[in-house]
Formats: sequence, C-alpha cells, structure tokens
Amino acid sequence: MNSTDKSLVVLVAGATGFLGSEICRQLIAANRKVKGLVRDTSDASKVTHLEKMGVITVKGDLKDRDSLDSALQGVNAVISTVSSTHSRKEGDTIKTVDEDGQINLIKAAADVSVERFIYVSFSEMPGQFPLQNAKRRVERQLENSGLNYTILQPTYFMEVWLSPLVGFDAANAKATIFGEGKKKISWISLKDVASFAVASLDNAAAHNKSILLGGPKALSPLEVVTIFEETKKKKFELQFVPEQALRAQKEGAQDPLAESIAALTLGVVSGSEIDMKTTLDKFKLQLCSVKEFATRGGGVKG
Ligand SMILES: NC(=O)c1ccc[n+]([C@@H]2O[C@H](COP(=O)([O-])OP(=O)(O)OC[C@H]3O[C@@H](n4cnc5c(N)ncnc54)[C@H](OP(=O)(O)O)[C@@H]3O)[C@@H](O)[C@H]2O)c1
Repeated sequence: MNSTDKSLVVLVAGATGFLGSEICRQLIAANRKVKGLVRDTSDASKVTHLEKMGVITVKGDLKDRDSLDSALQGVNAVISTVSSTHSRKEGDTIKTVDEDGQINLIKAAADVSVERFIYVSFSEMPGQFPLQNAKRRVERQLENSGLNYTILQPTYFMEVWLSPLVGFDAANAKATIFGEGKKKISWISLKDVASFAVASLDNAAAHNKSILLGGPKALSPLEVVTIFEETKKKKFELQFVPEQALRAQKEGAQDPLAESIAALTLGVVSGSEIDMKTTLDKFKLQLCSVKEFATRGGGVKG
C-alpha cells in the first residue's frame, strides 16, 4: 500500500460512533472508498448521516461471524473503533463485543487477507479491569494474526472526559474533579485520534506497531479548569469526588461495565502523561491543545 493508492476499500467498524464517524469523514475528505459497518439497531439518523457523507453502509455485528465475512467482501483495510461501553444493545457486553467480537473481526479479516488492520485500543491504565483485559487480549490476538496491524493506544479523549458526560459542564461553568485533580493527563482530541487512524493506513512507521497517543501537553484537571475559566472569563464551580469513593465504586461494582468505568475514572486520578515527540517526528500532524478545544466550545464539532 502506498500513499497515493485511493483504490483501496476501507471498512470502518464503529462507523456510527463518535470516533468512527469522524474517521469516516476524514477518509471521505481524502477521497477514500469507505464502507461503514452498521446494524439494524444502529441509530437511523447516524446511518443516514454516513450515507449522505458518501459512506457505503454494510450490515454486520461483531458477535456474528457470518455477518463479518459478508461485510468484508471487497475490503482491503479495516479500522475498528467498536466498543460496547456507550452504545450497547441486547447481547452486547465487554466480553461479547470488546473481546470476543473484536477477535471475530480480526479472524474474519485474516481469512480474507486484508492488507491493513487498525485497532483503536487505549493506553495502559492502572490495575486490572474487564475492559482493559479485553483490549490487551485483542491486541495480542492482532499481533499474532499475521495481519499488517497498527494498534493505537490513545489516552483520555477531550470530547468525552472534558464534557458533561463526566460532569465537566463548561456551558454552565461547573466541573466534577476526580481525586485532587493534580495529576497530569495528555488529553487528546478524538479528531486527532481519527487523523492518526487514517494516516496509519499509509505510513510505514505505523506498520506492525503499537502507538501511544496523547495531546500536545499534559495538564492536570485543575489546570484544564483554569484554561476554561480564562477562555470563558467565568469562574467554575468545582465538585470533588474523593479517590476513596471511586475505589469503593470499583470494588463494589455489580457488573464488568460499572467496574471498568470506575477504573477508567480512577485512571484520571492517577494521571496519564504521553510524550508525543517521537511519534510526531513520524506523523506530521498538528495536535489540538486544550486551549484550542476550550476556544472552539468543546464538543465533537469544530
Ligand atoms: N472515550 C475515551 O476517552 C477513549 C480513550 C481511548 C480510547 N477509546 C476507545 O475509542 C473507541 C471509540 O470510542 P467511541 O467514543 O467512538 O465509541 P462509541 O461512540 O460508543 O461507538 C461505538 C461503536 O461501536 C459500535 N458497536 C458496538 N457494538 C457493536 C457490535 N456488536 N457490532 C458492531 N458494532 C458495534 C457502535 O455501533 P451501533 O451504533 O450499531 O451501536 C458504534 O458505532 C473505543 O474502542 C474506546 O475504547 C476511548
């Protein structure tokens, strides 16, 4: 595969998701042929949005191997962002989708010898928990699949972890701070994660590699609040959730998803710094800073 080969057909699994739809947008903008994996249960407006963009939608569910064999017909490259964490439907769990389902997709892709397989995982988080165990097992499967792979390991997305979904409500100048809010995180925009996924198709530096991804500068949650306060010219009201309370949530969790969400939140307390210098020497991308994100008003658009 080379950088001018636009005849390749890329299947995006997770096309209706936050990250997958942005990957589709960037692939179409680069004149790529794009197929988007969707389900009968996918949000119809998201499917229509993809089709209007120029994505050819194909039906498939990671839990159903036969459906993947059909969806992969005529496909040369796969990018998978699938996760059951936000969009789960009946039968979707971390085990059936994030673990066994992703492995189904890798096996199906290996059976038709796709040229590239790009898998979106996440950076190392402290402790063991079901979602992290699933991601690492899928990574090992992909490394041993014989496919030409790239494993992207981003840290926390700005569009998710600096959003009302987790109590960061910039519009109303309120923020929930986990722990003391002093450990630094290399918050990354999902637009930049999408750009790395697209660039990995052609960049030989991405072939058969795992790549940690973070934003341009590590900042603590309290430093992030200061940036938003300066941008919005408004003082934020803060609510602190003690680390101990999050530990109790993880230990008392009733199911693998609740345990994983508590563990990811505890990861914010521990911090997650990623030095991007070496990666940026190989990928000439301009990363979005928290200040730029705050200026554009947060959210996925912009
Ligand atoms: N949020 C973060 O800070 C962060 C950080 C690092 C890495 N990540 C990783 O980034 C990836 C993308 O996240 P996101 O926010 O874009 O997720 P998202 O918006 O929840 O999207 C999930 C996608 O997976 C699809 N899906 C779920 N179950 C499926 C199944 N059984 N078969 C086929 N498709 C299925 C969904 O399709 P339907 O519409 O059909 O349900 C949807 O398109 C995830 O793997 C996540 O772990 C996230």
